[in-house]
Amino acid sequence: MTVRTIGIIGGGQLARMMHAASIPLGVRIALLAEGPDVSAAQVVADVTVGDYTDAETVYAFAERCDVITFDHEHVPQPILRGLLERGKGVHPGPDALVHAQDKVVMRERLSALGVPCPVFAVVADHDELIAFGDRMGWPVIAKTSRGGYDGKGVWKLHGPEQSAEPFADLKPGVRILAEEFIDFTRELSVLVARRPSGEERVYPVTETVQTDGICTHTFTPAPDLSATQADEIERLALRIAAELDVTGILAVELMQRADGTVVVNELAMRPHNTGHWSIDGAHTSQFENHLRAVADLPLGPTDARQPRAAMVNVLGGARDDLLAASAEVLAAEPRARVQLYGKSVVPGRKVGHVTVVGDDAADVRARAQAAADHLMGRDDSEGQ
Ligand SMILES: Nc1ncnc2c1ncn2[C@@H]1O[C@H](COP(=O)(O)OP(=O)(O)OP(=O)(O)O)[C@@H](O)[C@H]1O
Ligand SMILES: [Mg+2]
Repeated sequence: MTVRTIGIIGGGQLARMMHAASIPLGVRIALLAEGPDVSAAQVVADVTVGDYTDAETVYAFAERCDVITFDHEHVPQPILRGLLERGKGVHPGPDALVHAQDKVVMRERLSALGVPCPVFAVVADHDELIAFGDRMGWPVIAKTSRGGYDGKGVWKLHGPEQSAEPFADLKPGVRILAEEFIDFTRELSVLVARRPSGEERVYPVTETVQTDGICTHTFTPAPDLSATQADEIERLALRIAAELDVTGILAVELMQRADGTVVVNELAMRPHNTGHWSIDGAHTSQFENHLRAVADLPLGPTDARQPRAAMVNVLGGARDDLLAASAEVLAAEPRARVQLYGKSVVPGRKVGHVTVVGDDAADVRARAQAAADHLMGRDDSEGQ
């Protein structure tokens, strides 16, 4: 079947950047958005405003789409299954997506596949959490099984006295996952694009820096990673994508210890913040390959166009007028590729990103940081 219209559920910046990638492919995007003015609704022509947790809204939206994909992983499983029952292609499908929706399901499945993960246990109450911590040694990590993002729903617990916290305000159907604390030296991420036919391509491994639980920087390829290590990580991600039958982009977040070994943190099944560098730095961006995979088109090459790419997120800061700040950046740093998401500035909110590509790791990093700092008003430059 020729896919002419891809329906995207969720109107955030990922959908906005998917829309940009759809233009040269000639496929149409239809958007089910949370509101008329969200990031992607500002640029997509065909927008339905509606609630993605309402089955009838989603089914009516899907009628004019050939396939459905997502900006986020929050569409309830029964609705995804209802779409399949109505003959609609859903990428990733519900059996794959559940591993990005529920961290307990993800841990159990990856462990069964022999993928390195932190030691974990599902804990019913704070006594069980204390028992886990006493057994493993403190600190331990506690996480909500569902609904966490940007570090919300993740606690580092230093001792039994803190172990009641994760159980406060627990929503129905959400479980608490206790994990061994991984004393990592850095975090890595690797992205795979996979078609329904099984064709797969993997992007170079990226180093990702989280600050207060939010991704703030990425460096690609991850510095100081041996060819053997990179190859092992890439093969691990390709295997996970195939075992879970992921269609579209799979992002595998990893933690690396001082001895070089890695464990998987979590999975996402959509374009991912750690792949934004690929818009300017790879032969085919993650957004284009996601759409190609969803439409079952041949995938494009994922290798880097330049030896080094640095991406720095623009978080809402001291400057409200991002367009004025951006004009200054374009003048001061012509090599900075600025992406603004059309979102209003709220402190700490992701409102854009900057990528710089080139030959020298320190140079691209410094330029991207300077540009992002200017957009965030962190360089005392306001009003210049
Ligand atoms: N077992 C662990 N040991 C040490 N640190 C951990 C562990 N699990 C998670 N972390 C840290 O907490 C961060 C957030 O965890 P996780 O990715 O599970 O949460 P999230 O809120 O779903 O994140 P995202 O913003 O990626 O959706 C990780 O990036 C890592 O820095
Ligand atoms: Mg994460």
